[in-house]
Amino acid sequence: MFHEIPPQMLAEMRRLEQIDRRDRGDGTPHLQRLRQVPPDTGRFLAVLAAGAPGGAVLEIGTSAGYSALWLSLACAATGRRLTTFEILPSKAALARQTFAAAGVDHLVDLVEGDAVGRLADAGPVGFCFLDAEKDRYAECYEAVVPLLVPGGLLVADNVESHREALQPVVDRAVADPRVDAVVVPIGKGELVCRRV
Ligand SMILES: C[S@@+](CC[C@H](N)C(=O)[O-])C[C@H]1O[C@@H](n2cnc3c(N)ncnc32)[C@H](O)[C@@H]1O
Repeated sequence: MFHEIPPQMLAEMRRLEQIDRRDRGDGTPHLQRLRQVPPDTGRFLAVLAAGAPGGAVLEIGTSAGYSALWLSLACAATGRRLTTFEILPSKAALARQTFAAAGVDHLVDLVEGDAVGRLADAGPVGFCFLDAEKDRYAECYEAVVPLLVPGGLLVADNVESHREALQPVVDRAVADPRVDAVVVPIGKGELVCRRV
């Protein structure tokens, strides 16, 4: 899968990595920053998504589409499509440009608006990446877990970088009999939940 990243997609990944690096160093305001996952987390997501059982592949929080590019690699490898939700029109517009330039329009459905309330439209879920505002995680967790197929995965970003805000979600997952959950110390800390 990673040995065959198409040059068009690789060029978009590199472009977004450069913008994200610049954003973090030059005081770009929070809402304008891309705030995307680091490359090793993108790779981790793609490996998990490619191994996830059948069902919808979802992302909550697209930004400019960087993590979605990694997930689209998994979708290409497994004959599926990604549905990714973005609440901000300005970010959705950037993501549209990214997907067109990377040549993955045929693999990605971008849904503009609040993901909560629309997740059930996707049907049973095989994989979901949660990377939205931290005060929405608990709500998203409760919305996604009932939709997971047996063996389906929910991966939530930032559980180490935003430990204080997200510890209640981690505690909830670890104690939740519907899932097996573990925090993986890669990137900003990934909570991985597998539906039993
Ligand atoms: C951390 S960024 C996502 C970065 C992206 N996953 C990546 O790694 O390239 C979070 C994004 O989630 C979006 N967002 C926040 N709450 C949302 C919601 N309820 N539904 C959909 N998108 C949301 C924000 O507008 C922002 O663009």
